[in-house]
Amino acid sequence: MTDERTQVVIIGAGPAGLLLSHLLHLAGITSVVLEDRDRTHIEQRVRAGVLEHGTTEILTQTGVADRLHREGLVHEGIELRFDGAGHRIPMTELTGRHITVYGQQEVVKDLLARRLADGGDVRFEVAQVQVHDVGTAEPSVTYLSEGVRHRVVGDVVAGCDGFHGVSRAAAGDTLRHLHRTYPFAWLGVLVHAEPRTRELIYAAHENGFALYSMRSPEVTRLYLQVGADERVDSWPQDRIWAELAVRFSLDGEPWDPGRGEIFDIAITPMRSFVTEPMQRGRLLLAGDAAHIVPPTGAKGMNLAVHDALLMSRAIEHWYRTGEETLVNSYTADALARVWRAQHFSWWMTSMLHRFPGDDLFQHRLQTAQLANVTASRAYATALAENYVG
Ligand code: APR
Ligand code: PHB
Repeated sequence: MTDERTQVVIIGAGPAGLLLSHLLHLAGITSVVLEDRDRTHIEQRVRAGVLEHGTTEILTQTGVADRLHREGLVHEGIELRFDGAGHRIPMTELTGRHITVYGQQEVVKDLLARRLADGGDVRFEVAQVQVHDVGTAEPSVTYLSEGVRHRVVGDVVAGCDGFHGVSRAAAGDTLRHLHRTYPFAWLGVLVHAEPRTRELIYAAHENGFALYSMRSPEVTRLYLQVGADERVDSWPQDRIWAELAVRFSLDGEPWDPGRGEIFDIAITPMRSFVTEPMQRGRLLLAGDAAHIVPPTGAKGMNLAVHDALLMSRAIEHWYRTGEETLVNSYTADALARVWRAQHFSWWMTSMLHRFPGDDLFQHRLQTAQLANVTASRAYATALAENYVG
């Protein structure tokens, strides 16, 4: 077994792990990033696409947003569509801030390129990752690579390995897991088509929710609420297009979001999940390893970025002053934002989806709430504040 030392061992090269490694580097702190997939996989994996105003600022201030500013799509509003009519929430007018539409895998590509250019240590295709001794001052991570077992000892281990990673379990049963599973899922497609509108459309229809989004001037991203146990096979392309057109209806007429070749299709479960606390001893968790939000509020990647920022500040403060105050308050600091995002995501999800057993009465209640949100400046501002972050 090989043996080496670094300051922070980071498990996972998603947005949380890569940004953490970058921020630590800027503070003069060394890290090793251990990723179980290969580089192509993490750079191609289709995920979220909305960056809050604050997320774009963090990436800009730390010098990894050149391409984001060139290729990202700045959005100053969103549309809520219900009862056959569209209602715009003018986010920038209400809050002075905007969102940027830019795929998560593009953020990953930019962060990884920068880490490698800065001489960062990112190791791909590591297997059997295990976390050890988090209750001591010498926590470590072992893994297998090309048949050889390796051990990296650090002062801190950062668990940034997503919902299905190993680090949360390594914190043991002192953590409490709070969760909620929604009785539906999202079918998401990527389409080679020019966006038909400039802004995202969140549509609430009696048949269920639909979302119109985009990735670039050539690619649209569309979602349909489907049953929790549904499979992609039961959604041939014609059915997808027909259902989208109905759910996006305007003035009683089907509204076609712009057809093109569907080149990616997947079903994502909808759940909320929070780990409390987000740390144990020298193991700190960030991003999806610690919490999941349903995608309706577009918060997942933004929470991962915010955790990485808080964690890097806490670790930097600790190295600089020898004080553990910020490390000890990491959970409380991160969870304040996580629960705000959980509430917003739950609210958007409940307002826009059809739940099993919902009757027309329930649909009318949801529509009345949407009417309130779009008619009242105070309500619209609250939504916009939460959405732009
Ligand atoms: N060992 C090493 N790496 C692992 C392991 C493991 N045992 N398990 C998972 N990983 C890797 C994954 O391959 C992935 O690259 O950890 C990384 C975790 O990245 P993400 O899942 O993207 O999580 P995070 O960085 O927290 O970003 C959260 O991802 O799912 C979206 O909506 C979510 O936008 C949010 C974002
Ligand atoms: C996306 O573009 O993938 C997207 C946009 C908004 C959401 C969720 C996903 O709320």
